[in-house]
Amino acid sequence: MFGVIHTWKVKADRRAEHDALMKATLKAERERCPEVLFNVTLGPAADGTCAEVQLYASETAHQRFTERIQREDAELQRLWASYSEHCEADSFRTWRFESADFLGESFVRPSLSWGGARDTVSRSEGKLRGKVALVTGAGQGNGRGIARAFAESGASIFVVDLHRERAEDAARELGELGQPCVAWAADISQEEQVQAMVSAAVRQLGGLDILVNNAGIFPFKPIEQFTSAEFDRVMAVNLKGPWLCAKYAFPEIRRRGGGAIINISSVSGHHGGAAPGGSVYDSSKGGLRQLTTSLATELGPHRIRVNAIAPGVIVTEGTGGRRLLESEAARKDAERTPLRRLGFPDDVGRAAVFLASDDASFVTGITLILDGGATAQW
Ligand SMILES: NC(=O)c1ccc[n+]([C@@H]2O[C@H](COP(=O)([O-])OP(=O)(O)OC[C@H]3O[C@@H](n4cnc5c(N)ncnc54)[C@H](O)[C@@H]3O)[C@@H](O)[C@H]2O)c1
Repeated sequence: MFGVIHTWKVKADRRAEHDALMKATLKAERERCPEVLFNVTLGPAADGTCAEVQLYASETAHQRFTERIQREDAELQRLWASYSEHCEADSFRTWRFESADFLGESFVRPSLSWGGARDTVSRSEGKLRGKVALVTGAGQGNGRGIARAFAESGASIFVVDLHRERAEDAARELGELGQPCVAWAADISQEEQVQAMVSAAVRQLGGLDILVNNAGIFPFKPIEQFTSAEFDRVMAVNLKGPWLCAKYAFPEIRRRGGGAIINISSVSGHHGGAAPGGSVYDSSKGGLRQLTTSLATELGPHRIRVNAIAPGVIVTEGTGGRRLLESEAARKDAERTPLRRLGFPDDVGRAAVFLASDDASFVTGITLILDGGATAQW
């Protein structure tokens, strides 16, 4: 599926009228055509003279939207005509993308001024050409964002998830980017399954260069409500799982002459108490951070770099997707964040491409904080 982004500039002296019109129609438009996403950038455009307005849509959604305006909706037609009266001549620009999936299920409020992913494809293209990457938990959310960014960068992907149908769906979508993608179902907390998973990746894709330990679970509740069985499960998935995956991936990556391991930790692994009820999750992610430095030391002599990414709030299926974006809590979170928005799986994907690629050839043992500056002000 292709994606389209349009931007246009609004005449400085028509700005107030234009903004009022946009705001008045945004809500109704979203209800009628939820696949088309608007983002009104309320600040001035780069040249300081006018506002920049952006419209994001998948190609098909955009086509349907335009056809509907032309055919059916006189009121909307009138509004669009008046929008264009407010625009600078020749300021209309269009970008087309190989995939509209960076839009995901997200739904962007004008106040969340979201500027992610615009040129993901062109910036990272080819950086991982010829590499084979195994990404755990890649059926949705951050893992899928990482797998997509890797595939866009030229890597072959072994797409692992606990849920087979999620892995298959992701592999089908990523396969459209032109790289070999294989779906595999495994529970990364189970040693035999991890062993079988790594062997299958090597057998089916010819070797292994990059491991991304992304799969994780995040139950939050007060300590007195946690059972010790739940504690064991979180530790088994979030800490033992990455350790097992690294243990079995290591000889394979070494066989290729080196490579990279990336652990998806969390700001909660640095700052316990980032969210209430995180006693177990925070501890598991703190452990993952330590595993990162230990393995960086141990595997460095084998030319295997081991780094972590510690995301802040990222809009994924696991954190509520569109429900999260539409919540008051998300609006407040974005307002409190220096970059004034939440994160998206594409943000994690691009950071992972950097850490996996030769751009980071002298980087090991670090945890890259990816939170829009949220923890910088703590
Ligand atoms: N979303 C955030 O705000 C955020 C912030 C910081 C860190 N993280 C970390 O990013 C990672 C992904 O989070 P997400 O928000 O994308 O979650 P998500 O729930 O949307 O996706 C996680 C995927 O991992 C899979 N999975 C779970 N347990 C597994 C297991 N035992 N074996 C194999 N696959 C398994 C799930 O089936 C799911 O498809 C997690 O490690 C999480 O702790 C997320």
